[in-house]
Amino acid sequence: MRPTSLPASLFLASLLSSTGVKVSPAALTVSPSRSQFFKDESVTLICEVGWTVRRNTTKGTRTECKDGWGTTDGSTCNIPYILQHDTGLYWCESMSGSSSSSSIQLSVSGGSVILQSPVLPVMEGDDVTLSCRAKNPTHNLPAAFYKDGSFIGDGPSGHMTLLHVSSSDEGLYKCNVKGHGESPSSRISVKEKLTNISDSTVTPGPGSSSVSLPVLLPSASLCVLFFLFLLVQLVVYLYSKPKVMKEEEERMTSLPETSGCSRGNRRKANQEQEML
Ligand SMILES: *[C@@H]1O[C@H](CO)[C@@H](O)[C@H](O)[C@H]1NC(C)=O
Repeated sequence: MRPTSLPASLFLASLLSSTGVKVSPAALTVSPSRSQFFKDESVTLICEVGWTVRRNTTKGTRTECKDGWGTTDGSTCNIPYILQHDTGLYWCESMSGSSSSSSIQLSVSGGSVILQSPVLPVMEGDDVTLSCRAKNPTHNLPAAFYKDGSFIGDGPSGHMTLLHVSSSDEGLYKCNVKGHGESPSSRISVKEKLTNISDSTVTPGPGSSSVSLPVLLPSASLCVLFFLFLLVQLVVYLYSKPKVMKEEEERMTSLPETSGCSRGNRRKANQEQEML
């Protein structure tokens, strides 16, 4: 398949570059994976190697882990006993300070209730479960949930699920357990689902029928090109050997019935053998 290998690889290369393994700027990982913590919990913040954890709190801006609020080995930062004044925005920053990841709001409750919500923005259309956790007892208690200060529902077992979230679900959420208190507020952000070709090629979803078209078109044109190439070869061959013309003409009549590149390829292989 030498004639098609170059266009094919060009096509593949363009496909790969357009789908793009998105080089996300070294995101911050929080362990345990929550954005709210009880006072005195141990929290570990992890950046990629070569990046450092920084934060903005009421006590200072852009301070590094090694500035006294955590213990660090460079890219990982541990806060052994997190306190209320550790509430703030945390992010990863490159050593040079030229680039930074998106930031995450961490909140520390001085009370005995926290809301467990997604740390990172959620994808539009996803279901999102909110959990209200009391410090004691550790099993879940009935909770009330609030969005931007308004009551949105009860969770008899401490959970509430937002179905098929959209941008209208964005806001500040908190929960309340009767007799235990209220959690801090955490923001839920909703990411817009991109529906361009390159994205749907990576994850064929319900609209996968539209995916086949951009894939089929280049393959079809490759097939056409290949058949043209084959025809030219045939003509050259027939011209140089007029005696076997009739035999070839018979074969040529069967050509339109064949379909696909592989059939044509096999045919070409036969020809080359005959030529030798
Ligand atoms: C941190 O605070 C500084 C100073 O107020 C501000 O310029 C910067 O944008 C803040 N960083 C984040 C991630 O919010």
